[in-house]
Amino acid sequence: MPADSPTRPHTPPRLTAQTVRWVHALGLGPLYVRRSVVQQAQTAAPPPAPGVATDPAVAAPAPAPAPATPRRAAPSAAEGADARAAFIARLQWDEFDAAAQACRACKLGSTRQQAVVGCGSTRAQWMIVGEAPGAEEDRQGQPFVGAAGQLLDAMLHAIGLDRAAQDPQHAVFIANVLKCRPPGNRNPAPDEVAQCLPFLQRQIALLQPRLILALGRFAAQSLLGSNAPISQLRGQVHHYAGIPVVVSYHPAYLLRNPVDKARVWRDLCFARNTVESFPETG
Ligand code: URA
Repeated sequence: MPADSPTRPHTPPRLTAQTVRWVHALGLGPLYVRRSVVQQAQTAAPPPAPGVATDPAVAAPAPAPAPATPRRAAPSAAEGADARAAFIARLQWDEFDAAAQACRACKLGSTRQQAVVGCGSTRAQWMIVGEAPGAEEDRQGQPFVGAAGQLLDAMLHAIGLDRAAQDPQHAVFIANVLKCRPPGNRNPAPDEVAQCLPFLQRQIALLQPRLILALGRFAAQSLLGSNAPISQLRGQVHHYAGIPVVVSYHPAYLLRNPVDKARVWRDLCFARNTVESFPETG
């Protein structure tokens, strides 16, 4: 399926003042809407600061977290990969942070400042998956807090989502493929992805989101087990463990290639339509 020929039409979500404000922030538009909506958008309060962990169960630690101990001890390297995977597959939300901070399964465990588990609501219907923490995320212990994070917040606001929201429909849970920062912001190495993926898989299993939005090549390829480029993966509904997955460009790519913002807007609308077209369960 060509990138710009999705299986469903891209219908923008209902235009609220907030949507108008963020679509303009994305550099898109003009949008032709009622004057009152534009006026509301101009006078509305600014969005919440990015990087706010909102769910007490997963709220990432303050910059210098006290080392915590998972309730169950992680298997040692000598006990093997299967034991480690089984341990991670049983983690509960409140054990995640300690388990990730204790992880030394790959070399990133010794170069990071801290593991960045994720943020948002554990009741969110949307899960956003990025690549790996950068320098600022490593410092703050929160995903997507740098410039790419601000753009991500703009993208989410444009479709009525907010990392600070608590109600499942507007909330998101944001996580990365890698929980630890690759030094110098290099690409994740295959062994690092292999060691870290069980954490993301467990987060997905616990969250059971209605949709996963995979941002960038590493998120999309890791979840879908594909080598296809983003351009081929966009515009289709894929599935991970029965959960719909929509693929788009990573916000950091978008910062370097703003010309692709219109494509991302289409992807976001596609994702929103996909959520609305799948029946809500549970
Ligand atoms: N890029 C990512 O993929 N994740 C982050 O948390 C920050 C930047």
